[in-house]
Amino acid sequence: MYSTIVGTGSYLPERVLTNAELEKLVDTTDEWIRTRTGISRRHIAAEGQTTTDLAEQAARRAMEAAGVGPGDIDLICVGTTTPDLVFPNVGTLLQDRLGIHGCAAFSLEAACSSFLYALGVADKFVRLGDAKCALVVGAETLTRIVDWTDRGTCVLFGDGAGAVVLKPSKDPGIICTRLHSDGRYKDLLLYPDGVSKGFGLVRQGKAGVQMKGNEVYKFAVNTLGGLVSETLEACGVARQDLDWLIPHQANIRIIEAIARRLDMPPERVIVTIAEQGNTSAASVPLALDTGVRDGRIKRGQLLLLEAFGGGFTWGSALIRF
Ligand code: ACO
Repeated sequence: MYSTIVGTGSYLPERVLTNAELEKLVDTTDEWIRTRTGISRRHIAAEGQTTTDLAEQAARRAMEAAGVGPGDIDLICVGTTTPDLVFPNVGTLLQDRLGIHGCAAFSLEAACSSFLYALGVADKFVRLGDAKCALVVGAETLTRIVDWTDRGTCVLFGDGAGAVVLKPSKDPGIICTRLHSDGRYKDLLLYPDGVSKGFGLVRQGKAGVQMKGNEVYKFAVNTLGGLVSETLEACGVARQDLDWLIPHQANIRIIEAIARRLDMPPERVIVTIAEQGNTSAASVPLALDTGVRDGRIKRGQLLLLEAFGGGFTWGSALIRF
């Protein structure tokens, strides 16, 4: 038994923040941001608009594409690092919004890899026969925890959500998922405050995403390079058989390095970073839905999804769409 993606959806908040606007906020230039990251603009959640609000829109679109209603969904798994509340979890809040009752609904956090972690977990539920119709979401309002005075990080992030619906299938589907993490690198990319730490830094206005960008960059390129090779080997698939690379959208230079490693020409890589920035857990399902809706990604094609994030965490999925 495999799981297969029967519908995709995504949502971006209306407000767009351009590089020109960031030039007025911090000591940066449009040229620096575009050449170093590939980002031109990003979407920012409106005041009061939460991760669940974004997740709901993406989920409704994925359910519509899949032709399923609230009564069909029997598992909700949301990947996010920026929940509305400490609890109830975003999965539960989303469940209530969608009028779904009783099934397991939870969120899990693995920074930018959260969606691939959620997909990996939901895939196991479906494969084992414990779920017949799973809603898997990556949703994030990371701009809420960014330090808007730090030019090294505030130019990178955007908000958004993406979702897929999984059903069981005799044929793959999700051929395999690979998930990894290594907590030794916890200090290179982090948000340094939280519940158990008492939100002391938040109260003093000193909290914000912290990143040693250069070190993260090098580690990400090496690790993702190894991850894509490992994934193909584990599944016995040759890189030339891939139709699409759907990478986490952290930096265009990282995306291009991984594409080169796979010998994938740019026209077979889904790139949304210019318009969306790094939407963390939402970036891979947003890119997937973008490619599906504009007609580039077609049924039967072979897709490689990959992501890398704080922790460090990293993960991939090889999918016959
Ligand atoms: N505008 C202008 N100058 C800047 C800016 C900016 N926005 N940000 C940094 N600089 C300066 C630095 O201060 C530095 O100046 P100095 O040489 O005088 O000290 C110079 O530019 C070079 O800085 P670097 O950090 O070396 O720049 P780099 O080319 O490495 O680009 C970047 C920085 C874009 C952050 C890159 O390192 C990167 O993309 N890293 C990986 C990000 C990533 O993958 N994150 C993981 C996912 S996020 C998550 O999990 C939440």
